[in-house]
Amino acid sequence: MNGRRVVIITGCSSGFGYLTAKLLADHGYRVYAGVRKTKDLNVFKETESRDNPKTFLLDVTWTQKRINRIVQSIENKEEQIDVLINNAGFGFLGTVGSFSDKEIREQFETNVFGLFKVTKAVLPGIERWRKGLIINVSSSAGLFTSAYYGVYSASKFAVEALTTALRAEESLYGIHVVSVNPGSFETKFWDNEKFPKAVGDLDDSPASRLARRIKDLIKQHAKRRGNPLVFTKKVKEIIETRNPRKNYLIGWDAVFLYWISRFFPQAILDWLVKRVVKRLA
Ligand SMILES: NC(=O)c1ccc[n+]([C@@H]2O[C@H](COP(=O)([O-])OP(=O)(O)OC[C@H]3O[C@@H](n4cnc5c(N)ncnc54)[C@H](OP(=O)(O)O)[C@@H]3O)[C@@H](O)[C@H]2O)c1
Repeated sequence: MNGRRVVIITGCSSGFGYLTAKLLADHGYRVYAGVRKTKDLNVFKETESRDNPKTFLLDVTWTQKRINRIVQSIENKEEQIDVLINNAGFGFLGTVGSFSDKEIREQFETNVFGLFKVTKAVLPGIERWRKGLIINVSSSAGLFTSAYYGVYSASKFAVEALTTALRAEESLYGIHVVSVNPGSFETKFWDNEKFPKAVGDLDDSPASRLARRIKDLIKQHAKRRGNPLVFTKKVKEIIETRNPRKNYLIGWDAVFLYWISRFFPQAILDWLVKRVVKRLA
């Protein structure tokens, strides 16, 4: 292992980003941990004395120019960036019909355009060095979707498409691009999730009943969520792999959903999902 490889991670105030930054710093990586609120600049205060992870302000919805300047200032300090982990993201959950176009844009601004802008800021540097790794935090919802997850999934499917194309293009420079697909893990993701304003919590339409039932099921599933340290260990393993794969499923539910979506005949899957949805509504 190279002890001073430089890693940038977005979305480090909590969850996967926070834990991954800590783990990598503990293993000798030089970690730049993006947070978007000033109060979170102290989030690693117990390790602050060693200044690693080093926090910096970054909201991925900022302009490309502003993000470029931030990345350049890191490059000026550290000759080169070795790894970018595009982790910042959140879930906007609800039936597709209950979203306004503004809400759909908000989901894409962070999960897709944000990831795109940070990647674009990092690319010239790593292309010059002809080595590097970009890890995009997608989701099992980036490989499989169903009722209620449509908009969040659409953003993660977009992440998958960008990853696939970029992986092929950047191979010309010896750069690896991968996406990780976690199932459900116990992070603040579930407290931070958003719901469309128009969601009719009180009305009795089939779509609102379905939304309420799925929301309840997600709550019931809470106890079965995975330990996020599993995610962080996998990410460290990917960084230390010579030739990483394109996708990494993390968690039993991610593996389960992937395999049924891949190997169940589409017509049966479609029939089954419609039956479940009908029953829930
Ligand atoms: N936990 C799961 O079960 C799960 C499953 C599949 C995929 N994921 C993906 O994993 C990633 C990390 O989520 P998590 O589970 O660790 O949840 P989390 O604890 O809520 O962490 C999300 C992080 O992203 C940050 N963030 C949100 N919007 C941002 C923006 N515009 N600019 C910069 N940072 C922003 C949050 O900052 P603030 O504190 O300022 O909001 C927070 O630091 C996300 O991309 C999520 O979609 C999570």
